[in-house]
Amino acid sequence: MPDFSVVTVTKERAMNGQRPHIPVMLEEVLSALTPASGQCVIDATFGAGGYTRAILDAGASVIAIDRDPDAISAGQSLVSAHDGKLLLEQGRFSNLDAIARGAGFDLVDGVVADIGVSSMQIDQAQRGFSFQSDGPLDMRMEQTGLSAADVVNTFDRSDLTRIIGILGEERQASRISAEITQRREKRPLETTLDLAKLVENVLGRHPKDRIHPATRTFQALRIYVNRELDELANALMAAERILRPDGRLVVVTFHSLEDRLVKRFFTDRAETKQGSRHLPIADDKSLTFELRKRGAISASKTESDINPRARSAKLRWGVRTDAAPRDDDLSIFGLPNLARAGKSTSGRGRAR
Ligand SMILES: C[S@@+](CC[C@H](N)C(=O)[O-])C[C@H]1O[C@@H](n2cnc3c(N)ncnc32)[C@H](O)[C@@H]1O
Repeated sequence: MPDFSVVTVTKERAMNGQRPHIPVMLEEVLSALTPASGQCVIDATFGAGGYTRAILDAGASVIAIDRDPDAISAGQSLVSAHDGKLLLEQGRFSNLDAIARGAGFDLVDGVVADIGVSSMQIDQAQRGFSFQSDGPLDMRMEQTGLSAADVVNTFDRSDLTRIIGILGEERQASRISAEITQRREKRPLETTLDLAKLVENVLGRHPKDRIHPATRTFQALRIYVNRELDELANALMAAERILRPDGRLVVVTFHSLEDRLVKRFFTDRAETKQGSRHLPIADDKSLTFELRKRGAISASKTESDINPRARSAKLRWGVRTDAAPRDDDLSIFGLPNLARAGKSTSGRGRAR
């Protein structure tokens, strides 16, 4: 096994003064993943290392990935404490198979992904993910590329409507985008509170509202800026390529758009489509996963009471069969076509 302790990492950054991230559905994740001594598992979303620690404790080696340079810096003490059993790499989980091969593994025993943002990202006002405190309208996990401010200040109104409507599942997207485009004529939207107040002004706020009216708009921008749905779809296919027969793929998601992708993937890979009595089964593609538990698993009430983040969590998992991986085919996911959203009036907001 390669010695991971010699792997060099990116920038050193401190992550002080933040709430620790509580790993969601850890018990359920471990029971699906079954990590054991001698195995190698990919933790595709290292975050604060909650899953990674537990997998290491079970005796397995871990290849941990995160696209956020802060998460990589903060994880260095864990790398040093585990004497070659943990490789922590900055990168995107859509490349998880290439990252594992680069580390000397043609196949691995498990892949786990805990999709979304970490508490550390949300709690740092300067990262711009939250409307609870004021910060620059940023939302870039990688800290490079197009920011949320670029999107709201330069994209066409119709593109903003599509992004907020589709990725935020916001029924009032058109009213919000109209207000954004009017407001930016006077001065650009620069901070999280600028945008949160604008959305609140458009939608109003009832004292009984359980969530802030800007929640869906923020979700949409975050998903768009970080290309989160494309990343997830590609990561599922990458996991199929790198898992050994009997290897486990375990995915935890936090909203319906993501859960739908995972469900579609497992349905496509693990279920035979029945032909009619008179016709042969049309779909003869080999099944690459076996589902031992149908449907999504939710967090227990006890966990949801302790950690409100767990309330919306959904876990799905499958066991890799020995069938060859399928060719890449994004059409099974029904990803929204937001390509047009790259066109901006000024040209500055061209999508990556
Ligand atoms: C919910 S947190 C993971 C928390 C982790 N399971 C723990 O217990 O500490 C999600 C992490 O995934 C990272 N992430 C999100 N999208 C990613 C992607 N496409 N590639 C790599 N990392 C990603 C985020 O930067 C964040 O740190």
